Amino acid sequence: MTRYRTPPAAPLPRTGRGRSPGWRWPLRVWGPIVTALLWTQPLLIGLFLAGEFDRLAAHGMVGGILVLAVFVQFLLSIPAWRPGGMHGAAVAVAAAMVAGVVVQIVAGIQRNLGVHVPLGVTLAAAGAAVTICAWWPARPATAEQPANAPHAVPDAGAGPYTGTGPDAGTVPNPDWVPTSGMVPSSGTDSGQWPR
Ligand code: HEM
Repeated sequence: MTRYRTPPAAPLPRTGRGRSPGWRWPLRVWGPIVTALLWTQPLLIGLFLAGEFDRLAAHGMVGGILVLAVFVQFLLSIPAWRPGGMHGAAVAVAAAMVAGVVVQIVAGIQRNLGVHVPLGVTLAAAGAAVTICAWWPARPATAEQPANAPHAVPDAGAGPYTGTGPDAGTVPNPDWVPTSGMVPSSGTDSGQWPR
């Protein structure tokens, strides 16, 4: 007779991702503010170029605010990454944005538009990317069993639990050794699905 045993619901190794997604919330709130400020810049300069000359002063003022804003964004990206579980690349992008905004201000004041305009577009895209990373759903720390995993593993009569009486399925068989494809219930690989 083929006997079945139900494998344990096994937690996957804790990778850090999704461990405490609550730590992402400060960045989830702050990131869109930074992105909105960044996207305001080309709008203001467009109005300036269209003849509203006082918009250049506003463009410069928003630039000054952005120096502080991207630095705060970088600080908030660290807990969003660990323990928040956000992708680590977003921290690197947030750090690069701090340097980028400083270069951007200098290039703007010097009217070095060959640097200023492409860097401005890059910063606007980078801000959106950091915000998307902050909002990207966290992978749960305890993953569900794979969709194709069997709910019960055929155990051709030689499984770790033997017996047919009231103790059936509870008495360990010390001679049993897990074979390839089986889910061990004890030992060094305890509870891990084969991957
Ligand atoms: C796509 C985005 C951007 C575009 C197209 C853009 C364009 C420009 C242009 C054309 C000027 C020179 C205006 C002139 O005097 O003729 C300028 C100046 C300036 N920009 Fe930007 N900019 C952008 C983003 C930014 C960002 C993100 C910052 C700061 C973080 C910034 C800070 C400045 C500053 C400080 C000036 C000098 C303002 C002044 O002299 O009063 N810009 N920008």
